[in-house]
Amino acid sequence: MSQPPNCVADFEALAKARLPADEFEILASRAPGNETLRRTPLAFDALALRTRVLPGVANADLSVTVLGQRLSVPFMLAPAGYHTRAHPDGELATARAAASVGTLMALATNSGHPMEDVAKAAGGPKWLQTYIFRDRDHTKELVERAEDLGFVAICVTLDGYWPAKRQLAAKGSRRGGEASDGSRTPLKVLGDPRNTWADPEATWADVERLKSITTLPIVCKGIMTAEDARLAVSCGADAIIVSNHGARLGTTLASIEVLPEVVDAVGGRLEIFLDGGVRRGADVVRALALGANAVLIGRPIFWGLAYNGEHGLADLLDLLREEVEMCMMLCGRATIDSIDGSVVARAPDLEERL
Ligand SMILES: Cc1cc2nc3c(=O)[nH]c(=O)nc-3n(C[C@H](O)[C@H](O)[C@H](O)COP(=O)(O)O)c2cc1C
Repeated sequence: MSQPPNCVADFEALAKARLPADEFEILASRAPGNETLRRTPLAFDALALRTRVLPGVANADLSVTVLGQRLSVPFMLAPAGYHTRAHPDGELATARAAASVGTLMALATNSGHPMEDVAKAAGGPKWLQTYIFRDRDHTKELVERAEDLGFVAICVTLDGYWPAKRQLAAKGSRRGGEASDGSRTPLKVLGDPRNTWADPEATWADVERLKSITTLPIVCKGIMTAEDARLAVSCGADAIIVSNHGARLGTTLASIEVLPEVVDAVGGRLEIFLDGGVRRGADVVRALALGANAVLIGRPIFWGLAYNGEHGLADLLDLLREEVEMCMMLCGRATIDSIDGSVVARAPDLEERL
């Protein structure tokens, strides 16, 4: 593609052209069957935007408050392991790109750069993503490091013990699974929850324990049902991420489909974020219309980095910002708070295809 990218999907095509084919596939994280990945864009498209005319809106204010932090845009960067797979600057580039558009990044435990270096790379707010590790002391130690480094929240991934049956590059591997001497790092097949560091025997009591060892807000990631949303509320979580881990299991509903039941169950008692298939400004607005406070993007981080490191990702985030702004103006909404359910209408023909 010789034209510069002008939507997030263009970055995907560029990343595909630039990355080794096996590496691109790892980042694509396609679960066997792919049912969830198939239905996710349809589920977004089935929510048509209701445009308004003559609303007198010349500029839209995209800023939003997330757990007390003011962000310039209503989208954030989801935790995702080893950004170094897409670009050698990895998470350092991501931190800078996030700060450049005024948003936050969630740094994955499985980072390609030490937490300390990412903290120093840019001044924007950061969450640390962790798991309930089998070794609870390890969880505690990570939380303490994050606190010392000025991270603003702990995001605990609750579906992390259920790894996809796909190949993951071994820890510490770089772009293309290549080691610094140019040799290929052997790929490790992870497919059995008995082999994860995240404890499959963890319970909600562990979330309560996590809450008790830190003053930072706790964000529970991986909520897909009203029942779990209520449990997160009762454990004192400060926020949840409605997420199916990027369609990891392949057989769940799209996260945007379960958002309404979660919003209903939570009843405003904590903040609700959503990830999974957010690719356009319209998708951001759709999720906000259904009650999310903000959204996160996962795979597009890798596409932006693969295209042109920090600047590639900053360009992608800028494009997304412009698209959100355009949708808001077309729907006559000047602020994020004014985006409500009346911004979308169900498109019955597309719903039928779900
Ligand atoms: C390559 C890759 C690595 C990921 N690594 C993590 C991780 O380390 N921790 C985590 O909580 N989620 C991880 N995720 C899931 C993302 O946080 C997020 O839930 C998902 O990517 C959102 O969907 P999207 O990619 O369609 O935007 C990963 C996703 C991908 C594609």
